Amino acid sequence: MEKLHNWNKTLRRNFLPTVLVFAAATFNFGLPTITYPHLNFANLAWGWCAITALGNFDPDKGGHIILWDLKLIIRFPPGCTIFIPSALIRHSNTSIQPHEKHFSFTQYTAAGIFRFVDNRFHSDTSINASGLTAAEQQERMEACRTR
Ligand SMILES: *[C@@H]1O[C@H](CO)[C@@H](O)[C@H](O)[C@H]1NC(C)=O
Ligand SMILES: *[C@@H]1O[C@H](CO)[C@@H](O)[C@H](O)[C@H]1NC(C)=O
Ligand SMILES: *[C@@H]1O[C@H](CO)[C@@H](O)[C@H](O)[C@H]1NC(C)=O
Repeated sequence: MEKLHNWNKTLRRNFLPTVLVFAAATFNFGLPTITYPHLNFANLAWGWCAITALGNFDPDKGGHIILWDLKLIIRFPPGCTIFIPSALIRHSNTSIQPHEKHFSFTQYTAAGIFRFVDNRFHSDTSINASGLTAAEQQERMEACRTR
C-alpha cells in the first residue's frame, strides 16, 4: 500500500495506515442475511481478510462463522474480528434469531492491486509495452508459472 500511495499521491486511504492496512472495506448494514459457503477469488490467495461482526445478537444462538475446509464452526460475537485467508478457505455464517440485528465490516486487498504494484504500476496487459528487458520478461514469466 505504501508503494502504491507513493506512486500516486492523490490516492486516499480509507483509514490511517497505522490503524488499518487494507485497500478496501465493505460495510454491510443490510438485513440480517446469511452468506452461503464461498471463496473471495479476487483477493490475494495468501492474503488476509478481516471480518468484524457488529450488531446485537446472542452469539451462542447464531452468527457463527463456518470455515468449511477446516471443519470449524466458530462463535463470533459482535465486536469481534476474525482474520482469514478468504480466497483459500470456504466460509459462510449461520442465521440469527428473528428479533436480532447483525451487521458486518470487512477489510481486504484485491489481488489485482498486488499485481499492479508488482508489475511496477502496470496492469498485466500493459506491462509488456513498458520496456521490460528480455531477462525481466523471462523472470516475470517464470514467477507466473511457479507462483
Ligand atoms: C491517481 O489517482 C487518481 C485518483 O485519486 C486517478 O484519478 C489518477 O488517474 C491516478 N493516476 C494514474 C497515473 O493512474
Ligand atoms: C453473514 O455474513 C454476511 C457477510 O459478511 C453479513 O453481511 C451478514 O450480516 C452475516 N449474517 C450473520 C447472521 O452473521
Ligand atoms: C506479454 O509477453 C509475454 C512474453 O512474451 C507473453 O507470453 C504474454 O502473452 C504477453 N501478454 C500480453 C497481454 O500481451
